[in-house]
Amino acid sequence: MVGPRCIASTLWPRANGRFSTALLLRRGSQPRSLPVSCWRAAYSSAAASSAPTVTTNPKTVEINGSKYATDSWFNVSSTVLALTSRKLHLQKDHPVAITRKIIESVFPAPTYKYYNEFDPVVSTFENFDSLGFPPDHPGRARSDTYYINKDTLLRTHTSAHEAELFRASASGGYLLSADVYRRDEVDRSHYPVFHQMEGARVWDRTKVPNGDLAAAILADLARLPEHNMKVEDPNPPFHAERNPLQADHHTPAEAAAVAAHLKRSLELMVNEIFSRAKAAAAAAAAAATTSPSTKNGPPAQTEPEPLRVRWVEAYFPFTSPSWELEVFYQGDWLEVLGCGVSQQALHIHAGVPSQMGWAFGIGLERIAMLLFQIPDIRLFWSRDERFLSQFRGVEGRLEGMRPFVPFSKHPACYKDVSFWLSRGGEGGTGTRTGTRGVVDWHGNDLMEVVRDVAGDCVEDVRLVDDFAHPKTGRRSMCYRINYRSLDKTLTNVETNEMHDRVVKGLVERLGVEIR
Ligand code: DAH
Repeated sequence: MVGPRCIASTLWPRANGRFSTALLLRRGSQPRSLPVSCWRAAYSSAAASSAPTVTTNPKTVEINGSKYATDSWFNVSSTVLALTSRKLHLQKDHPVAITRKIIESVFPAPTYKYYNEFDPVVSTFENFDSLGFPPDHPGRARSDTYYINKDTLLRTHTSAHEAELFRASASGGYLLSADVYRRDEVDRSHYPVFHQMEGARVWDRTKVPNGDLAAAILADLARLPEHNMKVEDPNPPFHAERNPLQADHHTPAEAAAVAAHLKRSLELMVNEIFSRAKAAAAAAAAAATTSPSTKNGPPAQTEPEPLRVRWVEAYFPFTSPSWELEVFYQGDWLEVLGCGVSQQALHIHAGVPSQMGWAFGIGLERIAMLLFQIPDIRLFWSRDERFLSQFRGVEGRLEGMRPFVPFSKHPACYKDVSFWLSRGGEGGTGTRTGTRGVVDWHGNDLMEVVRDVAGDCVEDVRLVDDFAHPKTGRRSMCYRINYRSLDKTLTNVETNEMHDRVVKGLVERLGVEIR
């Protein structure tokens, strides 16, 4: 069954209630002033040298050497702008880059061409329209997406480059890795910037023997390796209502052949990733049992269980039929990717109507967190040697991969902030005005203020109370902010000072009234 939580978390490190490409387009539903210590610890000088600078309401911003004019849609904070130059997926021996490399190894050149340098600034057309997102799709809201101006944004997903790569038609397939940006909540598995990998494979009906596309695809499928994972795939390759064939463009045999090639390719990828995760964990366990401090000797050898994966039906505006792949990992089914048979409209608009094929997208942090047992997404952005040194040399020798060993856990300190929402006041990215003239509240706006002020010194932020006054109808909320640095123990004075500035930021930027 495809439930909203499953879909929402497909490419995201953890399930949550925010906008997801799939969730909101499912059939039948329409879906700073950072404390210097933290700023330096998290982003340090190398980022600062190339980091764009931004003051309040800048007329222009510079991102990776290009200047962009802003307008009233601009909503990117300087902390997020600074991250556009980091490119973790290209940093040698960074866990995100290692994960990329592992995935690339399953999709070999020259059939697949690799693209890893695409700029994060794209047009709304590329990010949404070219992929068939309707004009009123909630993912376009300023509460969810970082806009430079009304027509330009920080890409929310790597699919933004799909049309362009179909048009270039430079190879039988491609893989693309890149940083993507989404306004979101603050917790240990959400960060406003993360990385995705997109892959696609196409065949051209004018170039296959006898024009028999299905036969050519099945011949390619026969050349792929086998695996020994247990795969559950209870659904038919397509279903008229739930997951339709693009009958105007594809024969049932063609769509079934593309689906079979897609599924085997992605199963091989998941097999590679999770076999490596298991091998790394087993090597670490073996090292622990043979260390001199171990008294009881090695445990009895047990045959490792085969990996279990399952296919579930999904919906994306740019594929049909569509699926998600879930993996049974540590007792739970985890969604790891979204994919499907590409909408023929994309190939047609890209000027290659004789091509058809499949595409997929996967979130790299989520996979890297599983691969390396990394407990907090903020760690990926750390420049702390105690983090980075643990992965050194792994890119060149994947057998040397080991789970991450946490180096310290500093104490947490939570503080609550309670406030009344403003009535018809300024602030927020909500676009509608409620019945009582209250500007729509969006939790992501509060998250942005917290991130701006306290940066990586906040572990998570939770809504703990939300009520409307029975007589006046006025809405009150209480959020609990959990302050915990990854690098050091925060003093009470530091935490109080940060919290005071968060509260001030909420008043000034969102117009709330502190209770
Ligand atoms: N872009 C989608 C997202 O971020 C993921 C995705 C789904 C990519 C299906 C694809 C695809 O290429 O075919 O949620």
